[in-house]
Amino acid sequence: MNVDKYDFLLNKEITYLNHGSFGACPKPVFKKYQEWQLKLERQPVKFLTNELYQGLKESRISLANLVGCEQDEIIFFQNPTTAVTNIIHNLKLKAGDEVLMTNHEYGALIRAWSEWAKIKDVKIIQQEIPIPLETEDAFVEQFLKGVSQKTKVIFISQITSQTGLIFPIEKIIKYAKEKNIITIVDGAHVPGHIELDIQKLGCDFYTGAIHKWLCGPKGSSFLFVKREQQETMKPVVFSWGKDGDDPEPSNFLQDFQWQGTRDMSAFLSIPFAIDFFKKNIYPSQKTCRELNIYAYKNLNEFFTTRPLSIGSSWIGQMVAHPLPEHTPLNFKSVLLEKHSIEVPIFTWNNQTLIRVSTQVYNDKNDIDYLMSVLKTIN
Ligand SMILES: Cc1ncc(COP(=O)(O)O)c(C=O)c1O
Repeated sequence: MNVDKYDFLLNKEITYLNHGSFGACPKPVFKKYQEWQLKLERQPVKFLTNELYQGLKESRISLANLVGCEQDEIIFFQNPTTAVTNIIHNLKLKAGDEVLMTNHEYGALIRAWSEWAKIKDVKIIQQEIPIPLETEDAFVEQFLKGVSQKTKVIFISQITSQTGLIFPIEKIIKYAKEKNIITIVDGAHVPGHIELDIQKLGCDFYTGAIHKWLCGPKGSSFLFVKREQQETMKPVVFSWGKDGDDPEPSNFLQDFQWQGTRDMSAFLSIPFAIDFFKKNIYPSQKTCRELNIYAYKNLNEFFTTRPLSIGSSWIGQMVAHPLPEHTPLNFKSVLLEKHSIEVPIFTWNNQTLIRVSTQVYNDKNDIDYLMSVLKTIN
């Protein structure tokens, strides 16, 4: 672990191979976040009724430049779940309509969709994407088999959570556009992980987390909303809207930015987090990907279980791999408590998976150490 070299706050005693779950914040970014909090507390009224809005605009501009859209197409949320929930509750679907997703989507969001679908009598179709993934064409073809006359929405991850796979979603979005199907992309893991150009993708909605791979402070995420969708979209939480202090001309931004009193310091730290990322993390990204491939190869060579994907184009800085059936149920706790390794182990699709993340603070020794402990399973 090179925690000090890259100035992360992580506990050096732990071999941290789980950047994917909640990210990790470098010291300078965390300091900037606390500076915003102090600024707020020194003059809460001036800050929250005035200074805040310029800061939010600067955050939108810097993020828009990074993710490929206009600044007034971005709104901030604490997390992707809240962002997606705001979309779901704006959909004008009728009983019997279908929302198509893969069977690799994030569990909490499957639940968010399902709870709403029960009330609306909408059908959620989780199209099975068999593993191992091999070619883009086979992936697209298999997913689109789930489309029917009733499909009104496609919801899909660009990088999946539990299986850690990069889904090539461009052709799916193009197809959906031709069929007038609304596209919602879950890019929680994308910013700071793989290149992103939202306008080029052409989706209607895109959510991403800033606290994961961009290493921003916790509680910083965004939602891109295409201009046409902004005309009718309303927040789940209504507040002052155009009668508030926000000087922005767009009703959309006014409605979404102020949702009652809250601490937006994590949003305000975004320009600093992006600068930090570009200077200190991005230059080592290639090395992180190579390290992840090293982990993929090691897992593949040692365990006889089938990998989730063939070839390196499906993975970035996360790799998930099935562990043998006889892996002890408490193995995740053993790794942490006995060996000081933080790595997720969970059940997905009736298999026990381990998911390894590689970030700048990791090195080959971390993977070798993990493998030496994993080898004790057999
Ligand atoms: C693919 C994916 N989508 C959405 C989320 C939502 O995160 P949160 O629970 O912070 O809203 C996560 C979190 O890890 C994720 O991996």
